[in-house]
Amino acid sequence: MKHQNKNYQIALDGPAGSGKSTIAKLLARKLGFTYVDSGAMYRATTLYLIENNLLDKSDKMISSHLKKIKINLKERKQCQIVILNNKDVTREIRTSIINRNVSNVSSKKEIREEMVKRQKKIGENGSIVMDGRDIGTAVFPNADLKIYLTASVYIRAIRRKKDLKDLSEKVSIKELIKQIQRRDDIDSSREISPLSKSQDSIVIDSSNLTIKEVLEQIVSFMPSQ
Ligand code: CDP
Repeated sequence: MKHQNKNYQIALDGPAGSGKSTIAKLLARKLGFTYVDSGAMYRATTLYLIENNLLDKSDKMISSHLKKIKINLKERKQCQIVILNNKDVTREIRTSIINRNVSNVSSKKEIREEMVKRQKKIGENGSIVMDGRDIGTAVFPNADLKIYLTASVYIRAIRRKKDLKDLSEKVSIKELIKQIQRRDDIDSSREISPLSKSQDSIVIDSSNLTIKEVLEQIVSFMPSQ
């Protein structure tokens, strides 16, 4: 199998709530690869900007803070833990306030350049599954396998509602559909590396598929041993 000789890279892109993180995590575990949730890096950056009252500040001011934003992704008890400057922010970065602000933050050129640089560096260390919006286009344009995972906006809203319920937040499906559509719009229309299907990616619509079925499909696209 190709990944026995060199680092094997799987890029998993798609819109908000399409199930990328769940699938990427399980896929990485199944294959023994490193899993990187690139969205968690943009979420942690958003949290930092909120906590330091920098959200509305100039790009120049924000850029001067980038080096101070230390993000570590760690595996603990089969979960990915997100550490922002030595603090565990795994739960905090999934809350509504971050959901509402992260797309604006991630559309900033300086932030994208810095995060993409960090993501490419992580990719040098071994075989990897990375999920996000621009992994197959900007981070690993030569990835061995590129998947574009999508689902209907209604299904994605239902999934997001469950995530928020786990965090004890109540938001209606109607409101979630609005938030998801807004985020899709910003993510797809931004100037730098917008969310888009690269020509060489395989599209999987997970609306009517179980997690197991999505995983099976992805594995079936990998070269056999
Ligand atoms: O889990 P969900 O799909 O809702 O979002 P996420 O993967 O955690 O990403 C949160 C946000 O970060 C996205 O809406 C994008 O604005 C941004 N993002 C990005 O711009 N590029 C990436 N590679 C990953 C996330």
